[in-house]
Amino acid sequence: MSKELIRLSDCTMAFDQNVVLHNINLSINDQEFLTLLGPSGCGKTTMLRIIGGFQQPTSGDVYFDGVRINDVPPYKRTINTVFQKYALFTHLNVFENVAFGLKLQRPNGKKIDKEEINERVMEMLRVVSLKGFEKRSVSTLSGGQQQRVAIARALVNRPKVLLLDEPLGALDMRLRKDMQNELKRIQQMTGITFVYVTHDQEEALAMSDTVVVIEAGIIQQIGTPQHIYDEPQNAFVADFIGESNIVDGIMLSDNVVEIFGRKFQCIDSGFETNEPVDVVIRPEDIEIVPVENGMLTGTVINITFRGVLYDIIVDFAGYKWLIQTTALSPVGTRLGMRIQPEGIHIMKKSQFSGMFGDYSSYSVEYDEIGDAEHEVEIDPDAEDV
Ligand SMILES: Nc1ncnc2c1ncn2[C@@H]1O[C@H](COP(=O)(O)OP(=O)(O)O)[C@@H](O)[C@H]1O
Ligand SMILES: [Mg+2]
Repeated sequence: MSKELIRLSDCTMAFDQNVVLHNINLSINDQEFLTLLGPSGCGKTTMLRIIGGFQQPTSGDVYFDGVRINDVPPYKRTINTVFQKYALFTHLNVFENVAFGLKLQRPNGKKIDKEEINERVMEMLRVVSLKGFEKRSVSTLSGGQQQRVAIARALVNRPKVLLLDEPLGALDMRLRKDMQNELKRIQQMTGITFVYVTHDQEEALAMSDTVVVIEAGIIQQIGTPQHIYDEPQNAFVADFIGESNIVDGIMLSDNVVEIFGRKFQCIDSGFETNEPVDVVIRPEDIEIVPVENGMLTGTVINITFRGVLYDIIVDFAGYKWLIQTTALSPVGTRLGMRIQPEGIHIMKKSQFSGMFGDYSSYSVEYDEIGDAEHEVEIDPDAEDV
């Protein structure tokens, strides 16, 4: 089991009267790849700056290896940072860029000797797949290669922790994907703890051991990518991570939820009898069946081909569901849907209830569907669910 390396304890950050981080409690383990994920302005960079020592929390404590480090300046922390704007020295070549910090270091009051610098730089260039590039001027490199130089420059100092603030933001889609794999590989190879900031949920899910979802300066959920996807804490997380249909429900009893006046089996329990809840149904968990076999019945109003799958929008009683399917159902098709108990996830009502989860904006034909209400009556399975 990994041990805790960094802990933020009740950290609050305010600029003037404006509180941008509320009571942050977060534990980061040694060798972990942890991602701070949330929309722009939610406080990710501020959290990273607190960990790096560039910012002191207004209240609360920061611990490193069990020692309180609130007052330790950045250069005395064994933590390095890679920023989105990676600011390489354009007049220096690749080798010199990576060696720069080492040449300035005086670990025991004296310079690191040339051979060691050479060895460490070459090793890092190998780690970031830039062997053979040492003499190249950084201005002749692609964006992705420059980013690798920035990472090698940070890693060569052998930090315990690397902080990365949207480091792939400047790269195009294809390169981002490559670099995501690359970063994951580098992290596993070096065993350095990565604290990674992004607003891109796909990136967070693909790379991280642990994802921390933040909104409005508050941690909404902490968990593995799988956990966050399968068991979102509230409507914000469900909407932010992947695609979700989020509908109102009433918990009739353990394992039975009512949606649109119909009973559905689910695997969730522990709610009050008749407690209003938010119900998440992922687009890939909805099975399309003939109308007569459907638990719900709706009309296809929009189709988007996504390569392997179709995204179809189905109108049920005025509510627009997103369904992902490999079978083409043309616009206007009436179809039934079935959802297995495992495909239904129940969440407590929260401040985010009602804000997310309808796909009306996908549809150009929104106003033309007039008969939606009547379809509630057509469900043949309603009684025997
Ligand atoms: N130095 C500062 N002074 C005043 N407000 C700041 C400062 N730094 C950040 N903020 C505010 O704090 C909030 C969170 O910012 P930030 O941490 O940069 O968010 P993110 O990185 O998630 O986009 C924003 O509202 C931002 O305007
Ligand atoms: Mg930021």
